[in-house]
Amino acid sequence: MEGVRSIPAKKPSLRLLAEKIDEIEKYAIHSATGKKVLAKIYQSNIYKYISKKINEFRDYKLVEEIKQHPVPKHVAVIMDGNRRFAKSLGLTPEVGHLFGRDKLEQMLEWCFELGIKILTVYAFSTENFNRSSKEVKTIMDLCKEELDKAIKDSRIHKNRVRVRVIGRLDSLPQDIRQSAQYIMDSTKNYDNYSLNIALAYGGREEILHAIQKIAKDVKKGRLKIEDISENIFSSYLYTNGLQDPDLILRTSGEERISNFLLWQLAYSELYFADIYWPALQKRDFLRAIRTYQKRQRRYGK
Ligand code: FPP
Repeated sequence: MEGVRSIPAKKPSLRLLAEKIDEIEKYAIHSATGKKVLAKIYQSNIYKYISKKINEFRDYKLVEEIKQHPVPKHVAVIMDGNRRFAKSLGLTPEVGHLFGRDKLEQMLEWCFELGIKILTVYAFSTENFNRSSKEVKTIMDLCKEELDKAIKDSRIHKNRVRVRVIGRLDSLPQDIRQSAQYIMDSTKNYDNYSLNIALAYGGREEILHAIQKIAKDVKKGRLKIEDISENIFSSYLYTNGLQDPDLILRTSGEERISNFLLWQLAYSELYFADIYWPALQKRDFLRAIRTYQKRQRRYGK
């Protein structure tokens, strides 16, 4: 209730309803009768009608709370669970990826709203090439569509979003490589936000690739072995110039990193959300950010 009261009464009626429901939930949840009453409330038409508005109001409260504290500068996301989401609704994996694509657009909006400057998403791993050719084609087509759409999207230009596609670009179909290069060139002078799309990406492969480039530069006399520092090494990675992620969020309930940003995640906070990527709601994202803010990062100190 403290949180509700501290919010400016922008929408007093909504505020009152949210307060009432918070109050009822707080007491009713502890008894069997209370739970039955709550179930009746949740099933009622009036509740369904107002719950959307109430949820928006609760998100608003959470956003206000988040804005009182530093937000992570760089959030990296493992967008997992597209196929399971689709299966749970009796849909095909391809439809799951369509929903997944839409969710990414929403998440970018949430980042603008919170002022999260860098978003890196794992769209396709080097291992994902082992999926059926139909599925690989669907994801590739979606990515191309999304890149071509983004270049015309006023939000990219208005917010000055620099878009990078990171990974083994040479293993991507020619048309995607062209779209990727076009958006990277067109946005290369933008410096307000960064959107990094990891495509045909593998963390170990990225490290090996960096080592090969370093070895070549040493061989050519452009780099001295004794000068190879962490900073120099980082500059050979696909994420050159970007600060490491503060927070890595993985959806779908799986708790592993799956070869994502292996070097860069050394000090990142990890957050695993038990929800399939396409089903992720703004509230789930806000909770991840709030949880991050409550954690204390010590960097080994
Ligand atoms: C993981 O879920 C998702 C992927 C491998 C593909 C991600 C693709 C998108 C979100 C859509 C296109 C992206 C862009 C950048 C436009 P999964 O397929 O592994 O599902 P599962 O874990 O349930 O099997």
